[in-house]
Amino acid sequence: MIRDNTPVENATEPASAMFRAERSAHKRSRPQRLRRFMAGMLDPRAWGHLLKLVNYYNYAHVRPLRDMVVGPGCGISPTATFAYGERIVLGARVVIGEHTRLWAGPEHARITIGDDTIIGPNVIITAANYRFDDGAPIHDQMMAAADISIGADVWIGGGAIILAGRKIGRGAVVGAGAVVTQDVPAFAIVAGAPARTIGQRAGAPAPAG
Ligand SMILES: CC(C)(COP(=O)(O)OP(=O)(O)OC[C@H]1O[C@@H](n2cnc3c(N)ncnc32)[C@H](O)[C@@H]1OP(=O)(O)O)[C@@H](O)C(=O)NCCC(=O)NCCS
Repeated sequence: MIRDNTPVENATEPASAMFRAERSAHKRSRPQRLRRFMAGMLDPRAWGHLLKLVNYYNYAHVRPLRDMVVGPGCGISPTATFAYGERIVLGARVVIGEHTRLWAGPEHARITIGDDTIIGPNVIITAANYRFDDGAPIHDQMMAAADISIGADVWIGGGAIILAGRKIGRGAVVGAGAVVTQDVPAFAIVAGAPARTIGQRAGAPAPAG
């Protein structure tokens, strides 16, 4: 349907009433919704997809979590996912938000997170990189990986990305959506892509000397 959004002079019907009328014209009736629900329940592809999800969360959450070192009192969202859990260490009371992914290196690189650190939703912490510089398809090249260490009492905002080899000092704050390409000093507040220091957390210890 092509809509003409030109304002109509002296329109008798307010726009919100027209919108409501159009929406109710498209709304499914109760029996229609029930029929759709039953069709979904009887569709073997829907159940096949459920099995795929169970399999996915088994290899991306349940199994790696068994291999990880997890300190006491951690709160880990059931939708957080992990790769190479045997190289991931969480301190005490670490919180990991929804859909966050921790990706340690396939061969050696570790991810270490200190006590009381909070990691928001949709964060990516990846200790692994594809190589791309020997002329072969990326898929066929070796992977490169480097340790990531995140100190105690750090807060990582939603959607941040922490790249391989980075160290985030104790007490630092990483803003929502930041891309951390450099080390972050203790108690610094960083934001942006690439992440830059935008402030200093209150209570930061005075610099030595
Ligand atoms: C980083 C953060 C903690 C900073 O808070 P703050 O100290 O109160 O900072 P301000 O709001 O005073 O902003 C200071 C400056 O940094 C900028 N800034 C703040 N957060 C930013 C972000 N995430 N990305 C880019 N720039 C940001 C502001 O625009 C402002 O710039 P200006 O001085 O040019 O206007 C906060 O903005 C943030 O990102 N919180 C994460 C929230 C979140 O993810 N919650 C859910 C997960 S638990």
